[in-house]
Amino acid sequence: MPRSRGDQGHLPAVVVLTGAGVSAESGVPTFRGAGGLWRTYRAEDLATPEAFARDPRLVWEWYDWRRQTVAACEPNAAHRTVAEMESVLPDFTLVTQNVDGLHERAGSRNVLRLHGSLWSLRCTREGLRVPNDDVPLADIPPRCACGALMRPDVVWFGETLPGSVIEAAWRAAEAADVMLVVGTSSIVYPAAALPVVALRRRARVVEFNIEPTDLSAYSELVLGPAAEMLPVWWAAHRDELLGA
Ligand code: OAD
Repeated sequence: MPRSRGDQGHLPAVVVLTGAGVSAESGVPTFRGAGGLWRTYRAEDLATPEAFARDPRLVWEWYDWRRQTVAACEPNAAHRTVAEMESVLPDFTLVTQNVDGLHERAGSRNVLRLHGSLWSLRCTREGLRVPNDDVPLADIPPRCACGALMRPDVVWFGETLPGSVIEAAWRAAEAADVMLVVGTSSIVYPAAALPVVALRRRARVVEFNIEPTDLSAYSELVLGPAAEMLPVWWAAHRDELLGA
């Protein structure tokens, strides 16, 4: 049973935190582990402000390739389950580290994107954000109407997360009764701190992963592919979380 610390009739606050593993069965490469992007590419060459300053074309070619890869993928049953949770649970928050947009394509409406989006460009001069779903990009590197370079609207290594987004995610973790941690290696901070915050507030934390992580010792681990296991878990706990 989820711990309810409100009045009688208080429905549990549910938070879902996702990482690259939730999109693995859609065919989107993860970062670490077998086939992971950081096994083939060096993050320092492609995902840092210094790399962009050095060679914006190379960085944009890589992001263009990632956009093409994701565009050819479809959301899977785990994304759809998360979208259903949002549509029926009165107190629900989705926090994702993913930039692929598959949660949104599965129907999730309110997504706290900790690491930005592949589908948004940002002017390096004015900070203006421009949605863009051209695949492939018409011009590499793309430029803003003001003439300055556009950059991917994602968080690179060495950069801070958008303040309002991490604050909202932190508040949700503090208020969570149940947190589901899906397909993340739980090693990149501050995202990895969110389950710790929830645990300290005595939330029930359930991890979905194909292998144990550092979080597993402190949570319930549901071992197996998220697209299989999350719908099964949800079917078994839906009524309980709805107070039915
Ligand atoms: P990782 O690649 O670090 O971890 C993916 C996790 O998903 C691993 O723990 C896998 O075991 C697990 N996994 C793989 N396939 C799965 C499946 N079918 N079902 C369930 N779990 C599965 O990805 P993240 O934890 O998301 O940051 O990485 C965090 C951040 O590091 C990313 O957002 C990115 C990266 O550098 C930035 O780009 C800022």
